Amino acid sequence: MNFIRFADLCSQGKVRGQRVFVRADLNVPLDDAGHIVEDTRIHAALTCLRMALDAGAAVMVTSHLGRPTEGEFHPRDSLAPVAARLGELLGREVPLISRWVDGFLLAGQALAPGQLVLLENCRLNPGEKKCDETLSRKMAALCDIFVHDAFGTAHRAEASTYGIAQYAPIACAGPLLASEIDAIHSAMTDPRRPLVAIVAGSKVSTKLTILKALAGKVDQLIVGGGIANTFMLASGLPIGKSLAEPGLLTQARAVIELMKARGAEVPIPTDVVTAKEFRSDARATIKAATEVADDDLILDIGPQTTARLAAQLMVAGTIVWNGPVGVFEFDAFAKGTEGIARAIAHSDAFSIAGGGDTLAAIAKYGIQKDVGYISTGGGAFLEVLEGKLLPAFEILEWRASD
Ligand code: 3PG
Repeated sequence: MNFIRFADLCSQGKVRGQRVFVRADLNVPLDDAGHIVEDTRIHAALTCLRMALDAGAAVMVTSHLGRPTEGEFHPRDSLAPVAARLGELLGREVPLISRWVDGFLLAGQALAPGQLVLLENCRLNPGEKKCDETLSRKMAALCDIFVHDAFGTAHRAEASTYGIAQYAPIACAGPLLASEIDAIHSAMTDPRRPLVAIVAGSKVSTKLTILKALAGKVDQLIVGGGIANTFMLASGLPIGKSLAEPGLLTQARAVIELMKARGAEVPIPTDVVTAKEFRSDARATIKAATEVADDDLILDIGPQTTARLAAQLMVAGTIVWNGPVGVFEFDAFAKGTEGIARAIAHSDAFSIAGGGDTLAAIAKYGIQKDVGYISTGGGAFLEVLEGKLLPAFEILEWRASD
């Protein structure tokens, strides 16, 4: 994929004295009191901001926070907590600028190299979501270089992600976006084989396009959660009262057949962990997959299945992981996900993981350092797995060639 890298512009001395507009994804969870609950995305944005400052730029950074109504400011939508946290992490004051689209142009010209400001929640600007041309052009006029560093919004074509990239004098990928592109490229385009994907979650319907896209590429497609239940049902196994989508059995069988025709496999669980109720203190029972009773709920894969999948992961060349394979929030039903996580950690494969629940599982088992690449994208990561060309990649490729 051909795109301009901000890091290259910096090392070529092309950033000194320039006004740099960074679109980051600082969309962090806040509690009811407005305190940041988890700040991974703020940490992930620091490399780009430090790079810009070190290169001698005047730096503006913005992000969305939540999904506010455009044109309606409520304090809960403010990036103020993010400005404070950024300031702590960078060891400097980070002024937060509101009404920046029209009011900030003159001040923007006055922004001196070495200065850094945070521009208030970009989704408050009318026209942001629809990628309004006038708004996009106004934003582009604020800068000399636009840096897209928000992989989490790479699947959105909004004014601050796509429109500004169309009209800014230079549009490039920040270090975070570039590393996401590189990691995804090595995992999906020319992967070291065997390529194993783990796709788990409650419903086949929400991940059907991903399953179909991966069925044409991967050597093993490990399914988990409610998705695995539907595949078990499609393979003629009993699943009791477990979560599944009987209406999608034909689609599940089509994925199995597509994989078989390629000499690849969807490994179906041979044993499972069941309970009679969906509760953290419910009694966990290990059963052969053929022995699931009518009143059983499957809440995890069994030890035999976990060992078999772990062995496959240990010899994989590349692993793509999205979704825990069981109800890992309940300790009695967490062993499958833990086994998968530890196998990924110990495998020599290049691994890439993404999605909120997956990141929670990675954190629970403390394997952050052992995963090749942890994506900051939720929806964006899923759309990449679906094989879609994300708007961010499309516009940056186009701008690199114009
Ligand atoms: C995310 O949280 O996945 C990103 O910040 C994108 O947010 P959005 O789905 O509101 O565009």
